[in-house]
Amino acid sequence: MADEPVSTGKPLARVDGPLKVTGGAKYAAEYDVPDLLHGVIVPSSIAKGKITGFDTEEAIAFPGVLKIFTHQNRPWGPHFSLFFKDPMGPPGRPFRPLHNERIHFSGQPVALVVADTFEAARDAAALVRVSYREEAHATDLEKEAVSAYEPPRHRIGVPPTPKPTGDAGTAMAAAPVKVEATYRTSPENHHPMELLATTVHWGADNTITVYDKTQSPKSVQIYLKTAFLFFRRHVRVLSPYVGGAFGLGLRPQQSVFLAVLAAKALKRSVRIVIPRDQMYTLGYRAHAIQTVALGADEFGRLQALKQDAIAATSRNEDAQDPMLYFSGLLYRCDNVSLSYKLAKLDTVSPCDMRGPGATTGMFALESAMDELSYATGQDPLALRYANYTSDDQMEHRRMSSKALMDCYEQGAEKFGWSLRTPAPRSMRDGRELIGWGMATGIWDAALSPLPARATVTLTADNCLEVATSVTDIGTGTYTILTQLAADAMQLPVDRVTTRLGDSSLPYNPTQGGSWTAATAGSAVQAACDKLKKKLLKHSTGREPFNPDMVPRRQFVDLLKGAGKSSMKATATITQLSAGRGFTSATHSAVFAEVRIDEELGVIRVTRIVSAIAAGRILNPLTAQSQIRGASVMAIGKALHEDAAYDHNLGRCMAHSFADYHIPSNADIFDLDVIFVDEKDEEVSPIGAKGLGEIGSVAVAPAIANAVFHATGHRVRELPITIDRLL
Ligand code: MOS
Repeated sequence: MADEPVSTGKPLARVDGPLKVTGGAKYAAEYDVPDLLHGVIVPSSIAKGKITGFDTEEAIAFPGVLKIFTHQNRPWGPHFSLFFKDPMGPPGRPFRPLHNERIHFSGQPVALVVADTFEAARDAAALVRVSYREEAHATDLEKEAVSAYEPPRHRIGVPPTPKPTGDAGTAMAAAPVKVEATYRTSPENHHPMELLATTVHWGADNTITVYDKTQSPKSVQIYLKTAFLFFRRHVRVLSPYVGGAFGLGLRPQQSVFLAVLAAKALKRSVRIVIPRDQMYTLGYRAHAIQTVALGADEFGRLQALKQDAIAATSRNEDAQDPMLYFSGLLYRCDNVSLSYKLAKLDTVSPCDMRGPGATTGMFALESAMDELSYATGQDPLALRYANYTSDDQMEHRRMSSKALMDCYEQGAEKFGWSLRTPAPRSMRDGRELIGWGMATGIWDAALSPLPARATVTLTADNCLEVATSVTDIGTGTYTILTQLAADAMQLPVDRVTTRLGDSSLPYNPTQGGSWTAATAGSAVQAACDKLKKKLLKHSTGREPFNPDMVPRRQFVDLLKGAGKSSMKATATITQLSAGRGFTSATHSAVFAEVRIDEELGVIRVTRIVSAIAAGRILNPLTAQSQIRGASVMAIGKALHEDAAYDHNLGRCMAHSFADYHIPSNADIFDLDVIFVDEKDEEVSPIGAKGLGEIGSVAVAPAIANAVFHATGHRVRELPITIDRLL
């Protein structure tokens, strides 16, 4: 038999693709369970104050309505106690729907109408009358920034803002060239294709099966167990397919909380879908005001770097993201000072969103670097070369790998950067101004902070099953795990089935942080290694020296030889599985072309070249899709997305795609992706770094810099809408 080709590193099409395009893949709101009830949330119409009463008479009389839950009649649960903490959440107290009469933000759930059809619940929800005693609210970051504070340290997965190095103040004062400017970004709402939804199937013996839109079925299971006092074995959470999540599904959300609350109280199956116009009530990318000061010598070499950020959070939590974590890592500079503060607003807590923090922090830093290039009369790319560093100067240690120089060179070559004429407004095509801009990107490349397990099972029909509880949020996890396992067991990929997104599978915390490929992939590889050793031991009676020395296609023979119908192995990966004593990061160089109608100010991003250094690329097809998708999202950040508030009402005014603009197909042109060679045997056992989020980090600043090059007008606020440009 011909040798099966090695699959890892090849552009295998998504193994879950056919199911997704034929409707075979089911999402949380699509599970049909018998006697299903439907819940619809009634959102608060004020931003702050107290509920003084409900008039539910008309709503409860509506045909089909079973129950209207409010804080006055909801059942008690431990989640309402003073001591309840969300283990994955930021410092502070998590918001709990229907807790009490307090209103924390506009759109907060104040009642849940449960009916036997969705339509009845929706219509009855419109009939619930709520009276309030309003209090003065504060939703304007510009005003609240004066009371910004340094947040207490957070949590799993959010690295702290680095301590200062050197003396930025003195070095700044002495620097011959200085630029200083303030940059603003707008809040952004999550709008994945799949709405947030939960279907709870109430089973016999008080067991529940929960189909939830989450990035972490295990976290949701653990949360439900403690929040509602279930035995863990009585709660199973499934999210085998997720229609985009991007951070919204990292924490248990309102829909799962309320659906389980209602199901448990009524002992019935319940579904809740959060409608598009309530998506702004779930968590948003924090907006920020950042000041960057750069001091350099006449050759553009940085002498001092200062970045001060004030970002939004809610009244009840210190929600954080690594906005400045990377700012000291990109360039050679001895004097770095970073400060990250939060200002409290009467909104829901911000939450992670694709490249959390970094996309915002890098917009400011990379815009300032562009300003410095003009101040020193240098090409923006030459300025990056002048400040290149291979080390982590903040922690004084090496990087496990950093092929950023190759990103610059190959990206510039592909883009044709050398043809750029430096002066603003110097490139045009008819009535269109052309601008070319670039920026550097960086993102974390670590293994998951929590351990992850995977199990592989070989059966006598020469099939392998891979199982781990983490989800595939559309990133290609099913595919790359299948490829890795197929190669490890010397099987063709169609002999391998991967099962994901089920809390009953081996513990694997969360799809997020761009750590899943490296973490779950390493766990699968380790499980395969263990299985091979086990098989060899059973056949020869001793541990093999090297399991890969076995001739091909023999593993199933070993299994049969041992007289077994199946054999399995489970392995665990922790952060200790990576090497030590270095810093790891994924890097990018992004080059963007904009064309701007000179009279109308309409901006089109006509070309983006993203050159990415992300270690070993497990599947160039799914990897490219990650970078393209992230680029589209970042074009939204740069030009379109603004969850604008009416501060009089204290409410987000963007309730639909008519007023919350995201890029449409007509906004997207060429998105070119290059993966540069980067060998890194320390960052993870399989040599892979994360690459989901790096695709978005440098895109917005590259576009903003291109807009300056095209027009000579520096817009320091995202999104760059026409009114801000003209
Ligand atoms: Mo990502 S923002 O960790 O889903």
